[in-house]
Amino acid sequence: MNTPERGLILIVDDTPTNIDIIREVLEEQGFDVAIAISGERALQQVAQEIPDLILLDVMMPGIDGFQTCQCLKSLPLIQNVPVIFMTALSDKDNKVKALELGAVDYVTKPFEAQEVLARVRTHLKLHRLTQTLAQEVNKKVSELQNIQMQLVQSEKMSALGNLVAGVAHEINNPIGFLNGSINNAKDYVKDLLDYVALYQQHHPNPAAPVQDKAEAIDLDYLQKDLSKLLDSMQGATDRIIGISTSLRTFSRADTEYKVSGNLHDGINSTILILKYRLKANKHRPEINVIQDYGDIPAIDCYPGQLNQVFMNILANSIDMFDEMTQSQSFDQLQAHPQQITIRTTADANQVQIQIADNGKGMTEEVRARIFDHLFTTKGAGKGTGLGLAIARQIAVEKHGGSLEVQSKLGRGTMFCIRLPIAG
Ligand SMILES: Nc1ncnc2c1ncn2[C@@H]1O[C@H](COP(=O)(O)OP(=O)(O)O)[C@@H](O)[C@H]1O
Ligand SMILES: [Mg+2]
Repeated sequence: MNTPERGLILIVDDTPTNIDIIREVLEEQGFDVAIAISGERALQQVAQEIPDLILLDVMMPGIDGFQTCQCLKSLPLIQNVPVIFMTALSDKDNKVKALELGAVDYVTKPFEAQEVLARVRTHLKLHRLTQTLAQEVNKKVSELQNIQMQLVQSEKMSALGNLVAGVAHEINNPIGFLNGSINNAKDYVKDLLDYVALYQQHHPNPAAPVQDKAEAIDLDYLQKDLSKLLDSMQGATDRIIGISTSLRTFSRADTEYKVSGNLHDGINSTILILKYRLKANKHRPEINVIQDYGDIPAIDCYPGQLNQVFMNILANSIDMFDEMTQSQSFDQLQAHPQQITIRTTADANQVQIQIADNGKGMTEEVRARIFDHLFTTKGAGKGTGLGLAIARQIAVEKHGGSLEVQSKLGRGTMFCIRLPIAG
């Protein structure tokens, strides 16, 4: 009639009659029962199979119940298993001691079978509830951590986006003005030079001071060089305009809905933002970025989030290259240039972006954990351990794609992002 109860109860007692009484009630209710006739045996027993609850006699030859309890509680897998003491000693001190050692309860001899049963049930139930609660709490905590990391990163990215958009906007007016002015200047200079040429043609022999001045300023050279100078000034402003457009591509990429996005634009603008970190410094030569772009279609995506993926992966490679300068000299690095290769390819359904560095790679232990959130090998204040966890989340959850890594210690690391073409 009673549904059998589940659970393995370990009885630790040196008196066979005691064991028999309790075993009978427990087995009648459907519990599994294991027996240990001493503290030492109990410790061996739990190593074989973890019980759900332990009934522990206090007075035993060899190590007594108190010591046994202490040993049990020091085992990580056992420390949460509820222990109920069985004692003939009814004095208060012993009960207090038992509870202090981590026991959840005690029963006194001679046993009242129903009482033992009731206490066993209560503590099993409490234990199970506690465990469920702990699991729930852990789950909630990790959900919260997830949300928090998204917030931190999206906050950072939107701050960066604003900064970049602001800079691009501020650059735009003066550079537009400069570009226009150079065009006007070119016209004026051309007119002026034509005028001088005409003058020279019709007055081949000007007065001495005019001739002297022409020589002093090297008029022939000046006439040839001035137009070139203006052309290179215009080339420089064109480059700045290109940079500004790239910055705006990066900052405008933040969209709430999937849009059709060109990944090469995203990668290029991300590289531009990181350019200052790629440059040579006194510890190492410049990091080369090789862009081996295939013919890939635009894909349905959140371009801003994908920029974040590129940014997190590229920044990690740069961090790693910077770290390598601690063990390698400038000359050593010059002999083996640090490189990041970005290769894009596509098939009918998906595009693939491989970002590979020829750096120091990682150990298998590190590799296995890099996508865990909060996992970092970097010092406090340097790493957050969020970059790759977020990158993977963006690739997998937001885009239905994947992010995988391969790494060889001492050889380098390659990340491979795969994204479906039709979101
Ligand atoms: N290209 C790489 N080469 C070597 N190790 C890397 C590389 N990219 C990531 N890692 C390892 O992965 C860890 C986690 O990276 P990430 O999630 O971005 O967090 P963080 O950069 O804040 O440490 C890094 O601390 C580093 O140990
Ligand atoms: Mg990182």
